[in-house]
Amino acid sequence: MNDQAPPGTRPARPYFSSGPCAKPPGWNAASLATASLGRSHRSKIGKSRLACAIDLTRQILRVPDTHRIGIVPASDTGAYEMAMWTMLGERPVTAVAWESFGEGWVTDAVKQLKIDPVVLRADYGHLPDLASIDQDHDVLFTWNGTTSGVRVPDGDWISENRGGLTVNDATSAVFAYDMPWPKLDVTTFSWQKVLGGEGGHGVIILGPRAVERLESYTPSWPLPKIFRLVSKGKLSEGIFKGETINTPSMLAVEDVIFALEWAQSLGGLAALIARSDANAAALDAIVDRTPWLGHLAADPATRSRTSVCLTVDGADEARIKAMAALLEAENAAYDIAGYRDAPPGLRIWCGATVDTADIEALEPWLQWAWDQTA
Ligand SMILES: Cc1ncc(COP(=O)(O)O)c(C=O)c1O
Repeated sequence: MNDQAPPGTRPARPYFSSGPCAKPPGWNAASLATASLGRSHRSKIGKSRLACAIDLTRQILRVPDTHRIGIVPASDTGAYEMAMWTMLGERPVTAVAWESFGEGWVTDAVKQLKIDPVVLRADYGHLPDLASIDQDHDVLFTWNGTTSGVRVPDGDWISENRGGLTVNDATSAVFAYDMPWPKLDVTTFSWQKVLGGEGGHGVIILGPRAVERLESYTPSWPLPKIFRLVSKGKLSEGIFKGETINTPSMLAVEDVIFALEWAQSLGGLAALIARSDANAAALDAIVDRTPWLGHLAADPATRSRTSVCLTVDGADEARIKAMAALLEAENAAYDIAGYRDAPPGLRIWCGATVDTADIEALEPWLQWAWDQTA
């Protein structure tokens, strides 16, 4: 252990966790609207705030009118499992995994639903050959692999004439990349990522082909109430107007409305994407200047611009933990050790709620932590 003095200037907001992520700049609890709190979520004001969150999401993500947006229980996992349990089993499935979260959906398809999917895998740092996917299958995939920093570059591999449904876990991706909505039958995410919202609720976006599946197919397995999107063979349309299946946290709803209004005030999706891109470029420049840092994502075209995963030359898990602990103790960077299932390394969130100046301010701190743990 060396004993160098720490650098003089800290990132102003050292929040680099990949989920929950930094709150929007300027956020404070006192600035949240509170009139819906302590009220029924089915009251006029409760429903109008839920509908407001849905409408702002549609505007900012530019979701076409063909697609429905619902707020559902249990964060992204709830939304994605809801899609799997209500829609799969009608036809063969391909499940694509290149890191821990995609692997989790594979596990549930294989071990819980027992639907014997074709599994297409790649190692950490790589993307499988998406062009090899049978377009008549339902396809389970993760747009941005949060634990490896590898993302799908675009939707070119999805056929407009596909027979199956695309089921897109986009939780670290929406609000940071353009989404090809006509090719996405189901998209899910949670609020605590690029928006810096709170965990607890998932968002599910259904295209017309997903609705058709829901109304024409009943799975052979039982469905708990919190997964049910259909009543008497018809889509429960109320869910997509803010009539949630069960009680939501209105505080989390007010918090995400704050984040969505912040996004709108910046100029919407293009501005959010520009902020993520600038952050990722600033981190890239640091990696270029630092011989002991590298990118886990081998191909720059598939490199995440939100959850950027870095290799640290020769460092084992113990050294990574020591570096992360030093940076946390100095309030220079919180939560930047890589995910527990990923190869040891650092993971630095570059989503839109992070300021580029804070990424830049990290550079001497990373060097300091490296030197201190030599
Ligand atoms: C790609 C991806 N999928 C799923 C999840 C799980 O999300 P949640 O905790 O919102 O259920 C995460 C969380 O980090 C994620 O990054």
